[in-house]
Amino acid sequence: MSTHILVLHGPNLNLLGIREPEIYGTTTLEDINQLLQKKAAEWDLELRILQSNHEGVLVDFLHENRTWADGVLINPGALTHYGYSLHDAILAIQKPTVEVHLSNIFAREEWRKKSVLSPACKGIISGFGVGSYLLGLEALKQHLSSADL
Ligand code: DQA
Repeated sequence: MSTHILVLHGPNLNLLGIREPEIYGTTTLEDINQLLQKKAAEWDLELRILQSNHEGVLVDFLHENRTWADGVLINPGALTHYGYSLHDAILAIQKPTVEVHLSNIFAREEWRKKSVLSPACKGIISGFGVGSYLLGLEALKQHLSSADL
């Protein structure tokens, strides 16, 4: 049976490609999802993907898919910095979660340097553009396939 991964994209990531391209690049969200699906096929992973601008919708998605999912890949967008219910939802469903960011949040404004989600996550990858998502998916795959990694 393949490994099941939830992929969540938070607020404003639907506008990737046109949103501040000097920071976030020109790749669209659809392109990112296609790249993830391609890797998932290679690595025998099954993905369920959601983008929402609403924290509660992301929380509902985690709840609804909690028995299906083996792990979670999430770019929480600005919810990274204040999304406490998302933090709690990650802990509630008890699935290893990797937090990813296109930009390096530690090299930007002060308020972006703190993630309230990271303490609930297995790890974080930040600053590699689209590569952050691919590295995050790989990290999750490795973590789920070996207790040592
Ligand atoms: C982001 C970083 C966040 O600070 C920001 O609010 C985003 C995108 C990133 O991928 O670099 O929406 O998560």
